[in-house]
Amino acid sequence: MSIQWFPGHMTKARRQIEEKLKLIDVTIELLDARIPLSSRNPMIDDILRHKPRLVLLNKSDLADPGATAAWVAFFREQGLAALPIDAVSGHQINQIVPQCRTLLEDKIAAQVRKGITPRAIRALIVGIPNVGKSTLINRLAGRKIAATGDKPGVTKAQQWIKIGGEAELLDTPGILWPKFEDQMVGYRLAATGAIKEEILQIEEIAFYAVKYMSLHYGATMKERFALEELPGPDRGAEEVVAVMEAIGRKRGCLLSGGRVDLGKTSTLLLRELRAGKLGRISFERPGE
Ligand code: G4P
Repeated sequence: MSIQWFPGHMTKARRQIEEKLKLIDVTIELLDARIPLSSRNPMIDDILRHKPRLVLLNKSDLADPGATAAWVAFFREQGLAALPIDAVSGHQINQIVPQCRTLLEDKIAAQVRKGITPRAIRALIVGIPNVGKSTLINRLAGRKIAATGDKPGVTKAQQWIKIGGEAELLDTPGILWPKFEDQMVGYRLAATGAIKEEILQIEEIAFYAVKYMSLHYGATMKERFALEELPGPDRGAEEVVAVMEAIGRKRGCLLSGGRVDLGKTSTLLLRELRAGKLGRISFERPGE
């Protein structure tokens, strides 16, 4: 699903989240572990303000484990609790409620001191489209609740989903827009499949991915595509295109006359990348 965001949509999406924030104790900010900054809403700190927040790095099954560990440390340094998860397999999702409880420890202790029995912790999942909100809600609920591909601005009756005896989750996630005014962010979102190609040229997305992977995942690239040469450290455009052509030739993506079909090569490469067939690859590292 791709959503065209206009200022009106953004205002409405923000207002809807602010309404939901009044009902909950803790927010769960869902990011893509492969691109935690690019998959983040630019106004998130302002929108969530002082609500306790747990950052979840989803799709960690597709991300580089070393980069993910560095991101967890990065968020923790900023005072945010962070946990890598995989919403499809459910890996680590049993840690979500305990982490939320830890965030609310002081509040719960104060209630107990006053003789109040704490009620179930109420949580809201927020994130950009395609980051895995619906998959996670369905996983936590143990059944199909959220329609994948929820549209921003579409209101329906909200319900609480019980997670064990201790927590409740709003069944409709908060949907936010990414930072798409930055072209590099656009490439990262497109390379990982968060936005569909129509917005950007497929060859440009593949060019970006090949350039980044040649620098950080050279051995994987050489092995997977039986390449002898990779672009040098200065990674000039011709060198990157030469690698794309070599990949195309290896995969038989040829036009009549023997020229490489770069469009077909790009489609194939991105399909393999997004399916995790090139290995666990992250496109952002802290401090890069
Ligand atoms: P959203 O509600 O935030 O918009 O996201 P949604 O749950 O619909 O998930 C988007 C896609 O990401 C889905 O793939 C889903 O299976 C996949 N996904 C979600 N979490 C994970 C994860 O932890 N690991 C992996 N590998 N994939 C995950 P899809 O239905 O195939 O959609 P699409 O790829 O055709 O867009």
